[in-house]
Amino acid sequence: MARARLVLDPAFRVGPVHRRLFGGFVEHLGRHVYDGIHEPAHPSAGPDGFRRDVIDLVRELGVSTIRYPGGNFVSGYNWEDGVGPVAERPRRLELAWHSTETNEVGLHEFHSWLEQVGSDMMLAVNLGTRGTEAAMALVEYANIPEGTARTEQRTANGRAEPFGVKMWCLGNEMDGPWQLGHRNAEDYGKLASRTAKAMRQIDRDLELVVCGSSARDMPTFGEWERVVLEHTYEDVDYISCHAYYQEHDGDLASFLASGVDMDAFIESVVATADHVRALKRSDKKIMISFDEWNVWYLTKWKEREAEFTLDEWPVAPRLLEDIYSVADAVTFGGLLISLLNHADRVTSASLAQLVNVIGPIMTEPGGPAWRQTTFFPFAVTSAAARGDALRVALDADTVTTERFGEVPVVAAAATTDGATTTVFLQNRHLTETTTLTVDVTAFATAGTVTARSIWDEDVYAVNDLKDTQRVALRTNDTATLDGGVLTVELPPVSWTAVTIA
Ligand code: AHR
Repeated sequence: MARARLVLDPAFRVGPVHRRLFGGFVEHLGRHVYDGIHEPAHPSAGPDGFRRDVIDLVRELGVSTIRYPGGNFVSGYNWEDGVGPVAERPRRLELAWHSTETNEVGLHEFHSWLEQVGSDMMLAVNLGTRGTEAAMALVEYANIPEGTARTEQRTANGRAEPFGVKMWCLGNEMDGPWQLGHRNAEDYGKLASRTAKAMRQIDRDLELVVCGSSARDMPTFGEWERVVLEHTYEDVDYISCHAYYQEHDGDLASFLASGVDMDAFIESVVATADHVRALKRSDKKIMISFDEWNVWYLTKWKEREAEFTLDEWPVAPRLLEDIYSVADAVTFGGLLISLLNHADRVTSASLAQLVNVIGPIMTEPGGPAWRQTTFFPFAVTSAAARGDALRVALDADTVTTERFGEVPVVAAAATTDGATTTVFLQNRHLTETTTLTVDVTAFATAGTVTARSIWDEDVYAVNDLKDTQRVALRTNDTATLDGGVLTVELPPVSWTAVTIA
């Protein structure tokens, strides 16, 4: 049996947990929009073509801000193609994912879907094939109340009120050679600065995200952030981070410890941003928008990518439809723990993505919609992480991993809003239960304790079309609170949230 001990004190806080930490991402990719959220022929679809069963699941997931419309897709997208009468919208070749974009869903439709799911919009502008002028036109169309040709066009298209979009991404992954319009850091930094200034001349309340690295292992990582921020420091509020994790060659121990990599990623970007802050003698702190994160079996996708060199441009093909296991959900829970532990600097994050495409929700055309294993840690954390994130003082046994060496057997984060405290835990041990004690004397000696876990004797169990409910949250009835000490047993390869009310 492994052991771990935590001490929590409400006086030691990381910072407030921003609701935007529980954001999502919808890209026009594969069956995400078409045959995912939008399937007019589905029995649950409303007159607008959006599936109600999917809307209900997205609401249950508890997603705050949703990034749209890409991703790689945005770097070749004309936003104007997605507004106006649907029957007149052009079909276009979509180069990022080798598909045909029908443009049946665009800005107006997506906004009305967001109103139904109860989330805010975060828009990305195309700095790949387009630039400052198209970004300015979109800000004017979306956010200016009235009095110009573009605002009249918006009204004629059915929306008199402005959309009032606050968060904007200045392009997507512009460091990646795969990106349409990929640039070096100097060129992108200059373009992002010009575009940000112009967008703010139209709406000074925008919050702007400049592209950081598309992965920590990019050859330009670190230097990219420094150069881009040197050009844009006073123009932007956030720099982005993107990270995807997968189990490589059966190395489950390293995979479960992916949060260690995410911690290092965040801390390096914070250090680089603060270095530029020192160079600029600035009082301003740049925040991180971790606007793509997830488990993604990218190597499997790369093997399949060759199929897409054919002369076919399908509408809504099945792409990136990873089916997640219990081990994936436990790793995913560890990534949420990493985000919470950096709540002072990571004030926005987007789970990439939401439906069908590396999503916590899957659908079948004409059939059911269901929760993947990763749905559970996200939904629980989004609902329970309230108030402030606390500094966790952890003393734990260790496990050995090939990629990260010795790591604590448990990863932990905690939040409190005064009335309710929740501790989020991941047991990385492959075979042993870990007994965890948490000293909460600074909060309470008594209270109601509830604990929910994701674990299974088969760590590779999944929810799929054959059995959509094979994996679910389990009540963990080992949790007790006695004399200010919370004790809980964490099964091997598990994720748990313990709430003291
Ligand atoms: O989320 C899938 C893709 O991953 C996005 O389109 C891109 O930004 C990233 O490389």
